[in-house]
Amino acid sequence: MIIRVKRPSDVPSSEITPEDVYLNRRRFIRQAAAGAAGLALAPSALAAMEWPSPAGPGQQVDYSKLKSELGEPVNSYKDITHYNNFYEFGTSKTDPAENSGDFHPRPWTVAVEGHVKNPGSYHLEEFLAPYKLEDRVYRMRCVEAWSIVVPWRGFPLADLVKRVEPTGDAKFVQFTTIVRPSQMPGQRTDVLPWPYIEGLRLDEATNPLTLLVTGLYGKDLPNQDGAPLRLIVPWKYGFKGIKSIVRIRFVEDMPHNTWWVVNPHEYGFYANVNPNVPHPRWSQATERRLGEWRRRKTLMFNGYGDQVAQMYAGMDLHRWF
Ligand code: MTE
Repeated sequence: MIIRVKRPSDVPSSEITPEDVYLNRRRFIRQAAAGAAGLALAPSALAAMEWPSPAGPGQQVDYSKLKSELGEPVNSYKDITHYNNFYEFGTSKTDPAENSGDFHPRPWTVAVEGHVKNPGSYHLEEFLAPYKLEDRVYRMRCVEAWSIVVPWRGFPLADLVKRVEPTGDAKFVQFTTIVRPSQMPGQRTDVLPWPYIEGLRLDEATNPLTLLVTGLYGKDLPNQDGAPLRLIVPWKYGFKGIKSIVRIRFVEDMPHNTWWVVNPHEYGFYANVNPNVPHPRWSQATERRLGEWRRRKTLMFNGYGDQVAQMYAGMDLHRWF
């Protein structure tokens, strides 16, 4: 394997693409088309993967005003950064914000390994340099039956997969979180086996919805949300969204994932949001959106079925939960 570690660039990752350039690359086609035709577009019309970017050149974006493609308002920055799951910093929802202040997400190295033609180990800035960051509003549904709407900033994992050229033996991708108990107090306990690991099938990894995320609300990720690099797979339960990634490995066999290792009867590899398959200890039919009182019905594939259902055609989703 080739190991390439270059000097980190002076440019912060968030400034690799000027803000107005990437904000304007993506027009909010739904708003424009619905306005012109006076009609609400069916979600299938969004298959072209266009995302809200309402700002014009040089204009400031008010991220708090962004909406998902279903018209859902984003949650507040406070909610998104103070109600977290990140067991490396503790098990309660407020622990990550409270206990992650001493974590240093820079300098950072990311390794790409396994069955690829172009493996390597890169400083974060060099790793991110080839990719265009964009803002996308996604729902995230946690397996614990709460949900949140977040304006993420990142790039399609598919763009990375294309660059590193997986060989025919690459069937899955495994992701690994950093191990740094000196700065992550939860890793000084055995509440989970460390490091946290996750995995995707290769077609899931290359689905245009799957993002490697570096920021939210137009800023770099705060420590508690997975700085400096995390995964977001919006049609899956939130635990697939592994944080603070240091290794991306292309493998032949279905990799383990942390929650499956901890309790294989309760957590599967696929973890697709599915209101028809209850968790053994609670229903998944409804959810509480942070900031709302009334419960919502949970949508199949978290509302992204038009973009992802075909990947699971013919699969028994009760078995492959
Ligand atoms: N990644 C790591 N490394 N450690 C974790 O404990 N928790 C997961 C996921 N990624 C977790 C993780 C779970 S259970 C959820 S629901 C989401 O992160 C929560 O993401 P958020 O805190 O940004 O809402």
